[in-house]
Amino acid sequence: MSANGVSSNGAPDGGPVRKALDGVKVLDMTHVQAGPSCTQILAWLGADVIKVELPGRGDITRGQLQDVPDVDSLYFTMLNCNKRSITLNTKTPDGKAIFERLIEHCDVLVENFGPGVLDRQGFTWDRIREINPRISYASIKGFGPGKYEDFKAYETVAQAMGGGMSTTGWPDGPPTSTGAQIGDSGSGIHMVAAILAALYQRTHTGRGQRVSVAMQDSVLNLIRVKIRDQQRLAHGPLREYPNKTFSDYVPRSGNASGGGQPGQALKTAPGGENDYVYVIIQPQVWAPLAKLIGRPELVDDPKFATPAARLPHLDEVFGIVEEWTKTLTKFEVLDALNAIDVPCGPILSTKDLIEDESLAARGMIADVPHPERGTFKTVGCPLVLSDTPVEITTSPLLGEHNEEILREIGWDGKDVKALHAAGVL
Ligand SMILES: CC(C)(COP(=O)(O)OP(=O)(O)OC[C@H]1O[C@@H](n2cnc3c(N)ncnc32)[C@H](O)[C@@H]1OP(=O)(O)O)[C@@H](O)C(=O)NCCC(=O)NCCS
Repeated sequence: MSANGVSSNGAPDGGPVRKALDGVKVLDMTHVQAGPSCTQILAWLGADVIKVELPGRGDITRGQLQDVPDVDSLYFTMLNCNKRSITLNTKTPDGKAIFERLIEHCDVLVENFGPGVLDRQGFTWDRIREINPRISYASIKGFGPGKYEDFKAYETVAQAMGGGMSTTGWPDGPPTSTGAQIGDSGSGIHMVAAILAALYQRTHTGRGQRVSVAMQDSVLNLIRVKIRDQQRLAHGPLREYPNKTFSDYVPRSGNASGGGQPGQALKTAPGGENDYVYVIIQPQVWAPLAKLIGRPELVDDPKFATPAARLPHLDEVFGIVEEWTKTLTKFEVLDALNAIDVPCGPILSTKDLIEDESLAARGMIADVPHPERGTFKTVGCPLVLSDTPVEITTSPLLGEHNEEILREIGWDGKDVKALHAAGVL
């Protein structure tokens, strides 16, 4: 226990263990992926996340890509854990009144509707802060202010317009999107940081603020190294790239590492689609690596001895290493290379990952019981706080918490049945 009466786990003397965001109430108007990925992290950190959904349908993803008929899809359940759900038609007078009460009650409003949706319902930033000056109003949009601001966006639109697609893939292939959802979940993570900053600043100012993240900007932030390379191009070809020719923009560069140390994905046994290991050759590992693969003569060979000597013919360098990797499985390569401190990564398939014991042991692949679909697997929270580990609970059923939430906000208007009958809930 510390001098100020707070135990090392953050709990007040004798009180229950508190989560980092205990007491923070989030009014969650998000849908699809970008917004829900943000509010799920806030919920995992301990915020009370109240998801407001369109009566009858809810978040559109509940019914998309369903694997079990008439049961909330994995798309929904994997992005909405630890939240509560209230259905509310915010276009109706009673819906607006309840929504205003929720704004009074909450610390953060998060939404990722198309441009202007909440404004059209009368909930402008001015109106929202008039209702509750302490609330922060956080929006994820495709684009920031400017010529694209009125445009809708999805993941691949953001990847296209944030530079991800022009720089991903192979020089002789089409622009390619990455499976990592850098536009959607990438924006969600950026938004978590922005919201936490606004909450922290409120501790000094007492005021909430307008918080915005554009998906295009999030992708651009994540391809920062490609903008670095765009500027390097003015001084000559990018020698660490596998490309033979360059124009005046950064080309798609296959599996080049993107950093200062060269790397490549090399084949391993038995030769399946994902039997590869990504190997990075730092300067200091060249000598032990050459010895390990049975080519000790390369250590002092002037053609291979230094990073500068290897740079012009990296394909040949990695080809030599691949002659060795092809004789082993990717996990044998992983062990052998780590034994001599070579950074490397076997290409893990989604099946490898969902079955990985170490990920399961750390809760990064977690089993979550769901009242209608049974147990499903989800990806856990990558943010780890020593005092308050994340406990994953199921996603809510549509409107599961209608009565409970109305009670909490002291709603004394029409009762739940009447509101339901009128299409408000
Ligand atoms: C994702 C996106 C393209 C989807 O477009 P969409 O399906 O046409 O949905 P929108 O968000 O534009 O509009 C939702 C509509 O449902 C209505 N709606 C949603 N929830 C409601 C509720 N609880 N009560 C009443 N109306 C509701 C909105 O008012 C809006 O209607 P309107 O156009 O008459 O104002 C769009 O929301 C978007 O561009 N979002 C910002 C960027 C983003 O986050 N994209 C990634 C999503 S993963």
